[in-house]
Amino acid sequence: WLAGFLSADSAAPAAAPAAASLPLTVLYGTESGNAEELAAQTVKSAKKRGFKAVMKNMSEISPDALTKVENLVVIVSTWGEGDPPESAVSFYNDFMSGARELSKLRFSVCALGDTSYEQFCKIGKDVDARLEELGASRIAPRQDCDVDFEEPYNTWVDAALSGFGPATATAAPASAGFAPVVGTEFGKKNPFPSELLDKVVLNGEGSAKETWHYELSLEGSGLSYEPGDALAVIALNAPDMVEGVLKAAKLKGSEEVTLKGGSPKILADVLREDLEITTISKAVLKKLNEVVSSDKLSALLADDAKDELRDYLWGRWLADALADFAPQGLAADALVSILRKLPPRLYSIASSPLAHPDEVHLTVASVRYEAHDSLKKGVASTYLADLVNQGDNVLVYTHTNKNFRLPASDDTPIIMVGPGTGVAPFRAFVEHRGETGAKGKSWLIFGDQRYTYDFLYQLEWQDHLKSGALTRLDVAFSRDQPEKVYVQDRMIEQAKELYTWLEEGAYFYVCGDASRMAHDVNEALITVIETQGGKSREEAEAYVDALKKAKRYQRDVY
Ligand code: 2AM
Repeated sequence: WLAGFLSADSAAPAAAPAAASLPLTVLYGTESGNAEELAAQTVKSAKKRGFKAVMKNMSEISPDALTKVENLVVIVSTWGEGDPPESAVSFYNDFMSGARELSKLRFSVCALGDTSYEQFCKIGKDVDARLEELGASRIAPRQDCDVDFEEPYNTWVDAALSGFGPATATAAPASAGFAPVVGTEFGKKNPFPSELLDKVVLNGEGSAKETWHYELSLEGSGLSYEPGDALAVIALNAPDMVEGVLKAAKLKGSEEVTLKGGSPKILADVLREDLEITTISKAVLKKLNEVVSSDKLSALLADDAKDELRDYLWGRWLADALADFAPQGLAADALVSILRKLPPRLYSIASSPLAHPDEVHLTVASVRYEAHDSLKKGVASTYLADLVNQGDNVLVYTHTNKNFRLPASDDTPIIMVGPGTGVAPFRAFVEHRGETGAKGKSWLIFGDQRYTYDFLYQLEWQDHLKSGALTRLDVAFSRDQPEKVYVQDRMIEQAKELYTWLEEGAYFYVCGDASRMAHDVNEALITVIETQGGKSREEAEAYVDALKKAKRYQRDVY
């Protein structure tokens, strides 16, 4: 009756959506912040349409809460080899295994992922399927988004919000999605041409590594950041990579092509500036097969050839695949149609804005290796190392990472585990605490191959130890002795001290390699808590979970 009354009264054009508004829960699971950004965007769009929209992080609710929700959109990313975002792990596990009655729930899912991984958008797919299994009704199909997610997201959010029907009787039509760039504001939609102020190799001569320190200018950009944030770098493909692809495709490069939504351009420029032309994925091979229909490639893409496909993809790039499956070459349009946009690369920022106003520093290891008879190079890392010189501009924007933050209080102790380039955000943390005169203790556990060549920022750490910005430094040089010594070994050696810090309320941070290091460090942390806290494995795991819930265990792993 009330709803009817309100809708009858809806003639007043400026009437704010009142009690008749449809409630909408925007549930998100985020690792690097993209899902969170889209969730906030969705709430805005939904409110404009008259929904009473609220945003919920998977980290802060239990799946049981869904039994009370009527209208739900889910935006969730998939990480690495098909994992949920760290902060969404317990929600996901609980939701996928627990039985719940959700027949009153209406939903739609937007899945974020990266087609270069086999388990593309797995978490979004799982949640979507599970919601249906539990009786909920899908009001708009799931949208799976690759790294270039804005366009598919816009399509999805429009369909999803419309799918719930009119949000209120008074709802004014409002466009969903990203707002156009206003003026000259710099950001993701309008990256800032940042001058490279300085670049220096941090490893000594003779090192097996090539780790660079880059200093970029943000002067006049209006861009800001906090320690823990990342910098997105818009890289260009190297000329020899472009040539390799052109040669394999038997094309000249002067052909004219038009990308979706763009104007005509020369193929060589498109390959250099716009498309990912190095690493390949199953998605790219599938598209290639649509163009060339090769028996060999079809066999590799068959459902029962997963291992063969994995073996094939290892160390093979686009030019290799073209040589193998399209020996006659490809038409320029066909080549362009199988490739995705070159995604920006995110690097953890290595500087504090307080210590270096108007600057942003990065610590980047150049990726270079030989595979299948050719030299492979990481696109962005070697772009910075080989193609950008002091005084040149690089297109960048800052990317907020709320999941990696110094404690609110300067008195809180921090423990930082960062081997290799994983040390980057900790340089920012320690600099920041030095600038603010923080009283809290800080402990850095750093590791790399060799003391003589690979002690990144050694002199700076020594200064910070002297000034008191850094309280403790432990190092693990893996290749200075016959047996490997890693950061987690140092944690075990210092178990007593480490546990004391944790009991004193220390925050525990890990940055760097996700494939093995982060897991091994997590295991070491559990061991430390077991042995020093006199706890069982289960109790130690619960202790770690509690740390995570309290945001005292934060990771930035890649
Ligand atoms: P390694 O390459 O000598 O094995 C930074 O790359 C440092 O991290 C190197 O010393 C590297 O050692 C080390 N590292 C490699 N695997 C690791 C793991 N699983 N846990 C911790 N550190 C690791």
